[in-house]
Amino acid sequence: MKKYVAEPFRIKMVETIKMTTKEEREKSMAEAHYNMFGLRGEDVYIDLLTDSGTNAMSDTQWSGVMRGDEAYAGGNSYYKLVEDGRDIFGYEFIQPVHQGRAAEKVLFPILLNSDKVAISNTFFDTTRAHVELAGARAIDCVVEEAKQPSLRVKFKGNMDVEKLEKLINEYGAEKVGVIVMTITNNSAGGQPVSIANMREVSKIAKKYGIHLCIDAARFAENAFFIKRDEEEFKDVSIKDITREMFSYADTFTMSAKKDAIVNMGGLIGIKEDAELYQKVKGNTISFEGFITYGGLSGRDLESLSIGLYEGLDEEYLKYRNGQMEYLAGLLDEAGIEYQSPVGGHGVFIDAAKMLPHLKYYEYPGHALAVELYLEAGIRTCDIGSFMLGNDPDTKEQLESDFEFTRLAIPRRVYTQSHLDIIAEALINIKKRASEVPGYRITWEPEILRHFQAHVEPIK
Ligand code: F0G
Repeated sequence: MKKYVAEPFRIKMVETIKMTTKEEREKSMAEAHYNMFGLRGEDVYIDLLTDSGTNAMSDTQWSGVMRGDEAYAGGNSYYKLVEDGRDIFGYEFIQPVHQGRAAEKVLFPILLNSDKVAISNTFFDTTRAHVELAGARAIDCVVEEAKQPSLRVKFKGNMDVEKLEKLINEYGAEKVGVIVMTITNNSAGGQPVSIANMREVSKIAKKYGIHLCIDAARFAENAFFIKRDEEEFKDVSIKDITREMFSYADTFTMSAKKDAIVNMGGLIGIKEDAELYQKVKGNTISFEGFITYGGLSGRDLESLSIGLYEGLDEEYLKYRNGQMEYLAGLLDEAGIEYQSPVGGHGVFIDAAKMLPHLKYYEYPGHALAVELYLEAGIRTCDIGSFMLGNDPDTKEQLESDFEFTRLAIPRRVYTQSHLDIIAEALINIKKRASEVPGYRITWEPEILRHFQAHVEPIK
């Protein structure tokens, strides 16, 4: 059994969570049209829907909330955030925005248009959506190893560099508006990207004169994996590794709701291009608010500054990764497969393996998510065909490379016992796996359908 890495903090404030009965959960699930996003938070016992904005802030961050400067223009909290951002990332220009997708909305239309394509190790759904809203096409280019969940190799989040160069030559370098490196690679299971891979991608980007942008939501967890698994960096501090990672790119967009351990916030970083920064400022004022608050309160800017450093703390990152390793270890013992080795922000259960009687169009990842809720009040979500949706031209259901049920672990929120309950619930479901029904959609909207679709079990 994997040893649990004890929390490097103690609990000062608690939040009561409701215990429910199976009958209550069956009723709630049916009322939510079997959509996990339709459930009310109060009907959930352990909420693993996402690790985004669901983090517990520290006493230091809460005291920062009181110090937040709410000036419309030129507040202290803004200047502090810019200074801290420069210190951590080594970029000249730091622009706050209200969350990750706001950063994408501000930056991408400057880099992309309908003549362009964008290539990523894997686009997250909102990054893909903003590439497409800017008129361009989004192409994923992750290493093949990522597509085999049981294959235990390091850095499964990497870009397939051979394929990247082939794509650039196919489309022509002038057509590639941006290369996006998502660290860690969320959609591939929170899998990290190595510095070696960053270097190769950066070399290719430079060779062809293509802009390189980091999608930095989980940058600190990525730095942790580099320190742990890339020999060259075993004695380098997490902060120095972070500097090195960012040195290879031109810009970054960041959802601060993950590794900056806040409930709301985002950033854009620009290494040195003052002309680009000027355009970013223009879009920020139009879409987000004045440049010195970017859609956030002064108190949010203050807790974000503090959280950026707390997220880089090595003891914290060891504990954080320890939680994933512990839960994954319990699943190993039970023969439950997941995207392995386990990634940075959650355990992605291989639902196709667990529910082999279900076809991709019966949504195994979603079926397991519903079952986990009915079994123990645990809320998770599908990262598979249900999320992927339909082909925009033919309207046919697309088949995803993976059928995952994602157990995303919020930061500093749940304890070892909660993880035990999660593993126990999965083990119980595995015993009766052949009885778990598939699902069919009874209503769906055009875009990002998984958030709102109505579904029902197939009898
Ligand atoms: N990029 C990545 C890699 C993400 O995981 C997310 C959000 C975003 C961008 C967008 O950031 O939500 O602040 O607008 N991921 C969340 C998740 C929602 O559950 O994985 P946002």
